[in-house]
Amino acid sequence: MNVSLIGESSNLSKKLINVIGRNKVTTFGRSENADIQFDAEDFSIESIQRVFKENYEVYIFNIGFLQPKRIVDQTESEVIKSLSINALFIIKSCEYILNNNENARIFIIGSESGRKGSFDTSYFLSKAMLRAYVRQRALKKKDQQLILISPSTIEDSRMTSEREDRDVVDRYRREHPKGCFLYNDELVNYLTDIISNKSTYLTNCEIEINGGKFARMS
Ligand SMILES: NC(=O)c1ccc[n+]([C@@H]2O[C@H](COP(=O)([O-])OP(=O)(O)OC[C@H]3O[C@@H](n4cnc5c(N)ncnc54)[C@H](OP(=O)(O)O)[C@@H]3O)[C@@H](O)[C@H]2O)c1
Repeated sequence: MNVSLIGESSNLSKKLINVIGRNKVTTFGRSENADIQFDAEDFSIESIQRVFKENYEVYIFNIGFLQPKRIVDQTESEVIKSLSINALFIIKSCEYILNNNENARIFIIGSESGRKGSFDTSYFLSKAMLRAYVRQRALKKKDQQLILISPSTIEDSRMTSEREDRDVVDRYRREHPKGCFLYNDELVNYLTDIISNKSTYLTNCEIEINGGKFARMS
């Protein structure tokens, strides 16, 4: 299995590499540490063709950008930056990959925000775009696969540790039915389970990993 991991610097990616094996993974990111450099703000077809010049069996899109301000306080370029990183680069890359690789199995890290909304509306709408895309993008080849994995808050991640609203984060953790947030190790286990399963019948769906927090009937 050869895996392309887009979003090299995230803790989830680092833990995934440990489990999958460094020799099977090509990393993509903005820094020199990545095997292939790219910036998701550039979603031109020329950039996407360069980044995905080689074909891989598995693609894991693990990039995101969350702003600590509401959309009304974001500049036009901040809104566009969010849509580019959180949705447009990913969606356009998937289009390119699915048109050029008949064995592509694509896993995108979404978020519960795509379902429930977020303080940052640009982030919420981007993740909602991913939900719509994954459900509706018909796959032309039988061995292709397209899945959105949508976790709720991840305890040991940069996006959570960098949040300034610590009191809100603490309250959400306290009120969670599991009594804690999700950890990257758990997420890695779910991801590697699905990836190592040879079947591609599970496709065009969103797998929500939220500990049942949205169930309402008692
Ligand atoms: N943390 C949570 O509670 C949580 C909950 C649900 C879903 N998620 C999702 O989980 C995924 C990983 O996030 P994380 O929590 O691990 O946070 P993170 O460490 O901040 O990861 C975000 C990744 O996106 C990359 N990125 C940001 N802007 C980029 C750009 N312009 N071009 C290329 N790469 C860019 C970052 O690379 P740089 O180092 O270059 O910035 C980093 O690798 C995201 O899709 C996020 O939405 C997170």
